[in-house]
Amino acid sequence: MSVLSEKEAVERVRRLRSEIREHQYRYYVLDAPTISDSEYDKLYRELEDLERRFPSLVTPDSPTQRVGGEVSPAFRSVPHRNPVLSLSNAFTEGEVAAFVRRVADLAGEKGPLTYILEPKIDGLSIVLRYEKGFFSLGLTRGDGLTGEDVTRNVRTVKSVPLRLRELPEGTVPEFLEVRGEVYLAKDDFVRLNEERQREGLPTFANPRNAAAGSLRQLDPRVTARRPLRALFYEVREIVMPGTSQAGLFPYPGELAGLEAATETGALELLRALGFPVPAYTTATTLDELVAAITRWGELRRTLPYDTDGIVIKLDDRELARRLGSTGHSPRASLAYKFPPEQVETKVLDIILQVGRTGVLTPTAILEPVRVSGSTVSRATLHNEDIIREKDVRIGDTVVLHKAGDVIPEVVSVIKEKRTGDEREFHWPDKCPVCGGEVVRFPGEAAYRCTGMSCPAQLREKLIHFASRDAMDIRGLGPAVIDALVDSGLVKDAGDIYALTAQDIRTLPRQGERSAEKLIDAIQESRERPLARLIFALGIRHVGQSASYSLAEHFGSLDALLAATPEELTQVPDIGPLTADSIVRSRNQPSMTELISKLKRLGVKAAVSEDKRERTGGPFEGQTLVITGSLPGMTRQEAEEKIRELGGNISSSVSRKTSLVIVGENPGSKLDKARGLGIRIIPAHEFVAMVTQGRGF
Ligand code: IVH
Repeated sequence: MSVLSEKEAVERVRRLRSEIREHQYRYYVLDAPTISDSEYDKLYRELEDLERRFPSLVTPDSPTQRVGGEVSPAFRSVPHRNPVLSLSNAFTEGEVAAFVRRVADLAGEKGPLTYILEPKIDGLSIVLRYEKGFFSLGLTRGDGLTGEDVTRNVRTVKSVPLRLRELPEGTVPEFLEVRGEVYLAKDDFVRLNEERQREGLPTFANPRNAAAGSLRQLDPRVTARRPLRALFYEVREIVMPGTSQAGLFPYPGELAGLEAATETGALELLRALGFPVPAYTTATTLDELVAAITRWGELRRTLPYDTDGIVIKLDDRELARRLGSTGHSPRASLAYKFPPEQVETKVLDIILQVGRTGVLTPTAILEPVRVSGSTVSRATLHNEDIIREKDVRIGDTVVLHKAGDVIPEVVSVIKEKRTGDEREFHWPDKCPVCGGEVVRFPGEAAYRCTGMSCPAQLREKLIHFASRDAMDIRGLGPAVIDALVDSGLVKDAGDIYALTAQDIRTLPRQGERSAEKLIDAIQESRERPLARLIFALGIRHVGQSASYSLAEHFGSLDALLAATPEELTQVPDIGPLTADSIVRSRNQPSMTELISKLKRLGVKAAVSEDKRERTGGPFEGQTLVITGSLPGMTRQEAEEKIRELGGNISSSVSRKTSLVIVGENPGSKLDKARGLGIRIIPAHEFVAMVTQGRGF
C-alpha cells in the first residue's frame, strides 16, 4: 500500500466508508453480498489503518466506530415520545376470524381489506431514533412509557445502520423513530452456549434471554462480542426535510416515491433507509389469511430465529390509526400464536453437575419424553435464579420445549398438578463431589465449588484438555479419564505426560494394544501448537479464538505468562475481563505447577505452526464447513489441513460460510448451503487439492 498524505487519506477514507456501508447493506439488508468476507475484511482493515494513522479523520458514524466508551454504572431512563404498545394474542382460527370481522365492522368498509403477515420474532423490542440521518438514541421498551438508554450497546449490533441511506431523490429524514427486535439467531445461540460451556461460564436458557442479557450489558464491549442481530418492522415517526409539520406522525403518506401509507410500504421504506426487515406476505380474505398462517407455521422451522407466532396487521395505516387502540394494543393488529411444540413431563430429580471451573449447574432429571424429534430425559436449569423464577421443585409436572429448536428447556411448572409431595431444591454449602466449600460470588449467577482438588472439576478439566479442539489426544475420553482419576494416577493434566503403557494396562478394560495407542496419541500431542495448549489450559473466558490471538501475539507461553495486564488487553479479542482472568489463573500455584510439569515432560507448544495457521495460505480469511465423511481423511485431519492453509472451520452453515465441503451422507448443512447459494465442493476434490497444498 502506498503511503498517503493526510489530504489523500481524506478522500480514500470517504470512499472506503461508502464502499463498506454499501457492502454491509448488501449483506445485512438485501441478504445478497457481492464480495467475499476476505475482500470485505481487506477494505475494513485498510480503513482501520488509515484511521489509526490519521485519528482526526475518525467520525462517530464510521463503520469502525461501533464499540466505544466506558463501562457505565447503570442505564439512564428516557421517556418514549409515544407509548410503545404491544399486541393482543389469538390462539385459534376462530379468534383470527373474530378479529377480521371486528376490524371490518369498525372500518365500516364494504370492500376487502388487506393484511400483512410477519413472523413474530422472539427477541426484545427496541426503539431507535435518527436525527438528520444519524443514529442518536436506542431505547428498550421498558414499561412502554419509559425505556432504558441502550444506545451504546445498540451501536455494536452490526445490522443496525449508524447512518441512514439516502432515499432515491437524495434526501434523508430529518427525524426518524423506528421499532424493531434485537435477537439471536438459533445457530448463533447454540454456538454461544457451546462456547460459554467451554469457557466455564453459565449458559443461557434460550435465544431471547441471551439477546436480552447481551443487550443489557453495562460494558458495550461485552455486547459487541455477542452475535446480536436486529430486524425492524415499524416506522413510528418520520419527518422529511422541508416539512414543517411536527412529525407527520405516524403516517407520512406518499414519500420519496415510496408508498408509506401502508405497512408493506413502510417496510420497503425501512429497507430503502438501510434497515433489515422481516420477510412478509399479504392476504385479503379470511381464507387467504388462514392459508398464509398455515404456510408460515410450516416455514417456521426454517427461519433462522425463534418465532412463537405471526403478527397480522391491517395494511392501511391511516385506517389502522383511525381504529385506535384498546389499552395497550392497537385494534388493527393481532399476534397469532402457534401451538407450541411443548410436552408435559415430570421432574424426577434435580442434580448438580460440576464443571471445569467449578460451576455447579443444576440439571433436571426428567421422565423421558419425545419433543421436536428426539427423546429428552434431562434439561439444564442453568442457575439458582432460573429455578427460583420458575419455582421448579422435585416431583413437579412441567412443560418442556426445545429452545432455539435444540436445547431442552423447562418452560413452566404446572402448579395445578402439585400434590404437596414436591420437594424444593436446596443448594448445598458443600460440593456434592469433593465436599469443598460452595460459594456464589457477587455479581455472578452461578454457584461454584472452590475445592482445589475436586475430582469432578479435575475430570472436566482433563476432558477439556484432551478434547478435539484442545490437545486432541485420541483415546483419552471420559471413561479412561474417570479410571485415571479414580486410580490416582492423574492429579492434573501434566500427569498425562508421565503415564506409561504399563500404567494404562492396569486400568479396567485396557489391553496391550489400546495402551500402546494411547501412549502414541499422548506422544503426538506433545507437538500441538501453542494456541491449542493455551486453550487446553482451560482459563475462564479464554476460548478458542482468544487462544489463537494470544498465541499469535505472544509467540510463547513464557511471554504470555510474563505479560502485564495492559499488554494483554492490547491483543485483539482480549478485554479487561479476560486479561484479569488470565492473570488470576497464572498466579495460582496449581497452574504454575501444571505449566512447569508440562514443560518438564516435553510438551513443546510449537509456535511456528500458529503463525502459519493464521497468515497466508489459500484459504486465508475463508470459513469452511464440512458435512458428511471424507474419503481417506478423518474430519480432524481435514480441519487441521484447512487451518494450516489459513482457513477457519465452522460447525454450521451461515451466510458467513465461504465453502461447504460435502462428503458421503451429508446432513442438513448441504440443504442450507444450497439455500444460501454457498459454494459447494465435493469431498474427493477437496482431499485431492489440500494434499497438494492448494485451495480453490
Ligand atoms: S408489531 C403495536 N411486528 O412482539 C405493536 N411486533 O406484543 C407493534 N414482535 O413486544 C408490534 N416481531 O416486540 C410487531 N414483526 C413484528 C414483531 C413484533 C416481534 C414483538 C414486539 C412486541 C411483541 C408483541
